Amino acid sequence: MRLAVGQMEPLLIDAYENLLRVKSILKKAEDNQVDVLVLPELCNSGYAFENMDEAKFAAEEISQGSFSRELRSWSKADRLVVAGICERTRRGLFNSAAVFANGTHITTYRKIHLFMNEKDWFISGDEEPPVVDFKNAKFGVMICFDWAFPEISRVLMLKGAQVILHPANLVLPYCQDAMITRSIENSVFTATANRVGIERGIEFSGKSQITNTIGTRLASLSEDEVELAFVDIDPHVADDKMMTKRNHVISDRKPELYSRLVRSY
Ligand code: ACM
Repeated sequence: MRLAVGQMEPLLIDAYENLLRVKSILKKAEDNQVDVLVLPELCNSGYAFENMDEAKFAAEEISQGSFSRELRSWSKADRLVVAGICERTRRGLFNSAAVFANGTHITTYRKIHLFMNEKDWFISGDEEPPVVDFKNAKFGVMICFDWAFPEISRVLMLKGAQVILHPANLVLPYCQDAMITRSIENSVFTATANRVGIERGIEFSGKSQITNTIGTRLASLSEDEVELAFVDIDPHVADDKMMTKRNHVISDRKPELYSRLVRSY
């Protein structure tokens, strides 16, 4: 199975231009026979809104928007794509990741852990991150700053995810290395699609990457290139949870000693 991350530079509040940029990545992915494609967080809208009007203007409804239509159409040819979308709903705006496969909108994950000023525009997601089935494999979805909360990748792995798809707009310099650890501690593949560029003084770090289940970077991009990176993986490698001959990533856990993890503080 060919897994790809598309690194791009969305323009702030310019849906028309962003759609063109996304289309160019979709074309490249099609030309390279990609099966599963990850695009960055908020790729329809850009990131650094200054007020709620800007965020609302840049948002789209996933059932009707032009991005969703384009992504759904691309997925028709036995493909899966997940893309970060500034999502408008009746409840308000969400920082979402929409998943399309085989011409269908499969699910939408709404970012749980909002970063900095995102808290001013978006409602925090209130549902468990999803795992979707595609081509006999299982894909979990999380968004950007969820990396800093290892509970999310853990939950995805415990729900059966073999590969974690991770749209991102990374600002802090730690995530790419942290995802190495997320891979190892859960014995899963990860695919982080980051953006590049600077918006209103916020610099994004690029370096999109795909890791295997022991934290090796199988593919990676530079901090500023606009490019597609892809690799062929067997998701079922992630079914082997033996970290050593005598250590199993799931059954060696001692959840009875971790009750603090599910308390609110
Ligand atoms: C982030 O969560 N976009 C840093």
